Amino acid sequence: MIKRYGDYFQLDTSNTTYSFRVTQTKHLEHLYYGQSIKIDSEEEVEFLYEKHEFAAGNTVLYNNENINLTLEDERLEFSSYGKGDIREPFVVITSEDGLNTSDFLFKEAKISKGKQKFKTLPGSYDLAGGIDHLVVSLVDYNAKVELQLHYFVYEEADIITRSSKIINLNDDKTICIERLMSTQLDLDSDDYVLTTFNGAWAREMDKHEFKVTAGKHVNSSYTGTSSSRANPFIMLAKENTTEDYGEVYAFNLIYSGNHYEAVECSSNHKTRVVTGINPTNFMFEIKGGEEFEAPEAVMTYSANGFNEMSHNMHDFVREHITRGKYKYENRPILINSWEASYFDFNESKLLKLAKEAQKVGIELFVLDDGWFGKRNDDKSSLGDWFVNKEKLPSGLKGLVNKINDLGLDFGLWVEPEMVNVDSDLYRQHPEWCISHPSKPHSEGRNQRILDLSNDEVVSYIIEAMTDVFSSINLKYVKWDMNRIFSDYYSPMLAKRGVFAQKELAHRYVMGLYKIMEELTNRFPEILFEGCSAGGNRFDLGILCYCTQIWASDDTDAIYRVGAQNNYSYGYPQSCYTAHVSVCPNHQTLRETPLDTRFNVAAFASFGYECNLCDMSKDELNEIKEQIEIYKKYRQVLLYGDFYRFDRKNQDNLYQWVVVSKDKTTAVGMILQKLVNANTTFNVFKLKGLEKDRKYIFTNRVIKQNIKNFGDLINTQSPIHIKNNSLLQHLVSKFVSMPGETELYISSGSAFMNGGVKLSQAYGATGYNDKVRYFQDFSSKMYFIEEKPIRQN
Ligand code: GLA
Repeated sequence: MIKRYGDYFQLDTSNTTYSFRVTQTKHLEHLYYGQSIKIDSEEEVEFLYEKHEFAAGNTVLYNNENINLTLEDERLEFSSYGKGDIREPFVVITSEDGLNTSDFLFKEAKISKGKQKFKTLPGSYDLAGGIDHLVVSLVDYNAKVELQLHYFVYEEADIITRSSKIINLNDDKTICIERLMSTQLDLDSDDYVLTTFNGAWAREMDKHEFKVTAGKHVNSSYTGTSSSRANPFIMLAKENTTEDYGEVYAFNLIYSGNHYEAVECSSNHKTRVVTGINPTNFMFEIKGGEEFEAPEAVMTYSANGFNEMSHNMHDFVREHITRGKYKYENRPILINSWEASYFDFNESKLLKLAKEAQKVGIELFVLDDGWFGKRNDDKSSLGDWFVNKEKLPSGLKGLVNKINDLGLDFGLWVEPEMVNVDSDLYRQHPEWCISHPSKPHSEGRNQRILDLSNDEVVSYIIEAMTDVFSSINLKYVKWDMNRIFSDYYSPMLAKRGVFAQKELAHRYVMGLYKIMEELTNRFPEILFEGCSAGGNRFDLGILCYCTQIWASDDTDAIYRVGAQNNYSYGYPQSCYTAHVSVCPNHQTLRETPLDTRFNVAAFASFGYECNLCDMSKDELNEIKEQIEIYKKYRQVLLYGDFYRFDRKNQDNLYQWVVVSKDKTTAVGMILQKLVNANTTFNVFKLKGLEKDRKYIFTNRVIKQNIKNFGDLINTQSPIHIKNNSLLQHLVSKFVSMPGETELYISSGSAFMNGGVKLSQAYGATGYNDKVRYFQDFSSKMYFIEEKPIRQN
């Protein structure tokens, strides 16, 4: 709800309040963002205003009429450049005469219901049309430029989104936008811990914490994408905040390009956060009458720790970002051909894999890279989107028909934003790439990026993809983008002057959105999965079109447990995909148990990526059982409330639980990276259950191969069995060690507060059917179901 009392504006969600006012000088003073507060009139609000009677020496005074006001020490809704506020600016504009000082002053505010689409960028949406929208217009009367600040209030999700727009009110003068941020939040203390999620290829989403008490910390990307180097999602929390207690703010950006999040502490001990497009090498010219939109920023606040903050973000992303058929649908369990065969396949090999997949219960077959042009490695053919007849003599159509006949749906990998120099497309249109025609180019994965700032290229991609997608019975597309930007140069933009290249990175993103918008409209039945060498473009912009994103090229469960845990801070588990792959794992060469690979991947949009044809009967049986479990619990695994647990032993022990919205079903997981002898005790304290309902807690019982116990088996065996011997192998075929059974019935309050004391873990002294096998890389899955009430 949005209230206005005179110059005071208050935005309320179910549990939070955000407020600001128009000052006497017509600036916007930020007043409050935090737990809900009750204010009933403008008169009572003065206590929130900062009091300034005398400005400190050596600061700039705003003007002679307001000698007590220095913008450097005012908390502002946005800050412009050059009038004394020397902190991170929100907006920087240069007019034709070179002046880049600006002073935007309040003109008017309007409150309305519902949300219009942005013209150039995707945004959050509200089908019910009930959200409140506030737009505040400010004008720089010198430069004749209008700044609009838009606020959207998603009450139920406890989310406020902001976006901004510049309108050039001049008839004939061009202005140059050097920076236009999406949100700014000025807080009244300097005791926050900033969390950012950084990484690299196959190493996404490492969590980093910084106490920002002075100076500035910047999280940003300049890869042309939102990047695996620095995800745009950040958190700002009080120092002792835990998963379930304490204050936290979180921010994200609905944008897939170069982004920028700065947290700065002023010399007056106030903290400023700005988020938006990265101003590095950015400039955008707008002529008289034209406007420029900045991406929408998402903000939330929780007084109850990181889990509640994540739930706000999750509900918001699910309901107001992802769209289309698969928003709340069961995502198909898929098999992806990449790690099974890389570029080396033919029709019969693919069909063999598909047959095995069908037998274990997989629902969709994805043909990854290598099906087009003459692509046998990553050196050629990107751009030539016609089938490779040597590998697939009956064409895509022939293959798809056969796969459909097996009862599987079909999905396809494409990388439409790219071109190899060795391709027909490049030979025809070298000028369609981002590269200088006569300067050496720095290649990435042997490929170049197509110039999506060029409308001709945008139309070409739309039509080329339409041809492919409509030629077969296609249910899924993996949309990849495998290199980062270099040689920022568009031959098309070159015609528009020297500085036009500074618009390229943003124009590329707008071009990408045009393509995605058109194709998702043309093919509403297709499930689009985003990918950028794994998670190099994992953001809310792409999630407006792709309902899920390949989280990382690293499929190792022990890496993935950390990555998925960290994605879950800002993104719901239905948004990231995870696959069970083979061991030794292709990225780490690590061996992990098959059940652990499943237990981790199951807490995501799920699939397999391995050569099922090479797997043993036992493995295939286990996979069949995994798939049955996933199918049974798919809705809660994908769409339930996801809870993390505080980890005293930071990186070694992970626990998760997802709880269905109606609180009837939950699935839990505990994973240990490395074992310590004689640590046998674990408690599983559930979260999110209904306290008075009765639940049944069970586990997935897994028998252990006797090989896991090595020569210890001789303490039980009547005959001596040598470790790694043929005899051991033979015995292991018929004899296995029992797995523990957990079965408890109690109330939600008991399970949540008392916690389930799990069976004792193996602690180096003995093993029987009541002992939990919990060694290196072990994990356990638990099921919690409401106990039906018996009607007698
Ligand atoms: C990227 C993707 C992989 C795979 C390959 C194919 O690396 O992240 O999953 O699709 O491209 O070339």
